[in-house]
Amino acid sequence: MDTTGATERYLQMTGRSPEGVWSAPGRVNLIGEHTDYNGGLALPIALPQRTVVAAGRRDDGMLRVTSAGFRRVVKLALDDVGPGTPTGWTSYVAGVPWALRQAGYDVGGMDLAITSQVPLGAGLSSSAALECAVGAALADLYGLGLLDDDAGRTTLAAACVRAENEIAGASTGGLDQAASLRCRAGHALLLDCRDGSATPVPFDLTEQGLTLLVTDTRAPHSLVDGQYAARRRVCEEAAVILGVPTLREISLPDLDGALSRLPDDEHRRRVRHVVTETARVEEVVAALELDDWVRVGKAFVLSHASLRDDFEVTSAELDLAVDTALAHGALGARMTGGGFGGSTIALVPAERADDLASEIERAFADARMRAPVSFPVTASGPAARDA
Ligand code: GLA
Repeated sequence: MDTTGATERYLQMTGRSPEGVWSAPGRVNLIGEHTDYNGGLALPIALPQRTVVAAGRRDDGMLRVTSAGFRRVVKLALDDVGPGTPTGWTSYVAGVPWALRQAGYDVGGMDLAITSQVPLGAGLSSSAALECAVGAALADLYGLGLLDDDAGRTTLAAACVRAENEIAGASTGGLDQAASLRCRAGHALLLDCRDGSATPVPFDLTEQGLTLLVTDTRAPHSLVDGQYAARRRVCEEAAVILGVPTLREISLPDLDGALSRLPDDEHRRRVRHVVTETARVEEVVAALELDDWVRVGKAFVLSHASLRDDFEVTSAELDLAVDTALAHGALGARMTGGGFGGSTIALVPAERADDLASEIERAFADARMRAPVSFPVTASGPAARDA
C-alpha cells in the first residue's frame, strides 16, 4: 500500500512524522442489495482501492483533519461532535471517535491526513473506507484491540455505522463497514445481517479465467438525499404490517401470502425484492461451491431486474451498462451498492474484459452520457495498519 501521499500531507500539517498509517478498502457487493437493513444476506468483496490515513494522537481532545488535494485543515473539539456537527465529509471522520466514546471507549484527539483511491460517490463505499480507516487508526493508537479479531472488528464496524447514521445523517445498513473491516483477500464475505455472522467464501476469478469488471457510471449518486431512506422506511413499515422484526423472517415459500397482506403495490414490490434477493445470495453461494459461474451470472441478472423493476433504484446509466455487458459476452451483470447512480459489476471471460469496457464506453457516448470508467477488481484484504 502506498502510504507516501498521506504521510507527506501529515508532515506538512504537523511538522512531524505520523505515529502510524492505516488503510481500509472500498467494496463491491456481489449480490444481496438493500438486504442489510432488512436482516438479510449480502455477499461483498473488499476492493484493492483503499483510503489511507496517516495519524497521530493529540492530548488536547482536538481533531485536526486534512486530505491530499484539500488545502484547508479542519479543526474541531471532540466534545463538540454530535448529530449535525460537523457537516460534509468531515462528519464521516469525526463521527467515528464520537461513536467509540458513546460505546464506552476511551479515545482522545488525533491529527489525521487522508488520501483515497476509492472513487468518491461511485457506490463503492468511499464513506465506509474513510470511517473504517479512521476507526482502525483510533483503535490501534488508543490500544482498543479492536483490529485483533473478528469480534473486535464487528464492534468497530458498529461504531462506524453509528457515525454514518447519526453524525453524517445517512440511514445506511451495515454492509459497507462489515466489508471494509471483515473481508478476507481471495474471498467474498457471506454476511448474515440477522445474527451478524460473516463467513468467508473462496472467490478467485483468475483461476477460472474470469474477470470482475466494475463500471463507474459517474452518474451522481448520493445516500443522503432521501431516496435511500424512503426505501428503508417502506421496508420497515411492511415488516410492522406483517408482524415480523425484519423482512428476513419472510421466506420464499411464505412470500405470496405475505404480499397478499400488504396494502399497496409499492409495499408489495419492495418486499418481493428483499425476500427474493436474500434467496439469490443463497443461490450464488451454492453455485460458487460448485464453480458454476453460469448460475452465478444468472443470479446477477435477476438481481438487477429486481432492483430495476421492484425496488426501483437503478438509473438509465446503470441499466445501459448492464444491458451492454450482457450483449457482449458477460455471464452476468448488475448494479452494485445503493443504486440511484453509482457502479455496475460484470462477470466476464478475462480475454473479453477490455473489449467490454470499450463497448460500454461506446454505448454511453452514443446515448450522450458522461464517459464511464471501467476497471477489473479482485477480492482484497480488510482494514489494516500499513506502517
Ligand atoms: C449502500 C448502504 C448499504 C446497503 C447498500 C445496498 O451501500 O450503505 O448499507 O444498504 O447501499 O445494498
